[in-house]
Amino acid sequence: MKPNSISLDPRVIGGKASYQILIGSIVPRPIALVSTQSPEGLGNLAPFSFFNGVASNPPAVMISVARNSDGSKKDTLKNIESNGEFVVNSVGEWMIEAVNQCSAQYPYGIDELSQVGLTALSSERIKPVRVAESLIHFECRALHHYEVGDGSEGSATIVIGEVLLFHVSSSVYREGKILLEPLHAISRLAGKSYGKISEVFDLPRPKLIKPSP
Ligand SMILES: Cc1cc2nc3c(=O)[nH]c(=O)nc-3n(C[C@H](O)[C@H](O)[C@H](O)COP(=O)(O)O)c2cc1C
Repeated sequence: MKPNSISLDPRVIGGKASYQILIGSIVPRPIALVSTQSPEGLGNLAPFSFFNGVASNPPAVMISVARNSDGSKKDTLKNIESNGEFVVNSVGEWMIEAVNQCSAQYPYGIDELSQVGLTALSSERIKPVRVAESLIHFECRALHHYEVGDGSEGSATIVIGEVLLFHVSSSVYREGKILLEPLHAISRLAGKSYGKISEVFDLPRPKLIKPSP
């Protein structure tokens, strides 16, 4: 063990304490505002920060949907399991309060989108709607599901989805690239803390280096 460091065994500290270590250490995390639709056609919207890109050919993203504290599945997961469709909507500074409000536990079938005052926009390839306030939308179809844990609290299902269609606002798009500044992306930190991007620096990638003999 390194001096002045604490070793914590997840089996000893348990799931809740492990969660605190994970969300405090894995920072900043991007936020996916995920819209889905139930088999009855009811919309659902929730934020996920255990979210990332995983491949570019095909373009694919992952979200990790934890179980509710009673072990039941979140509405997002139920909907994706029923039809495989979801939209990842980007989160800008102007919408973070509404996004946070979406994470309240609304009863199944209640559409958080209208409850929190966001605006629906039809998707082109799938049924779940897009969020008009977001500058980027990925229309996705689930490719894989991976179960992590035994289904009790703290267990999660990782959903990997292929991006069928990108929608990018012209305000953040130039010559095939996304402009960082007008995106005003928000990241999740630990607890109730969030981050804005306040300083950016460039670091060129190293060229092929011959190892010294
Ligand atoms: C910024 C933010 C990020 C979140 N990230 C996750 C996450 O990665 N995984 C997860 O299961 N829940 C996450 N949550 C909690 C869910 O959004 C919350 O449980 C929500 O009620 C799920 O909604 P649903 O049942 O409609 O799917 C997050 C909440 C917030 C505010």
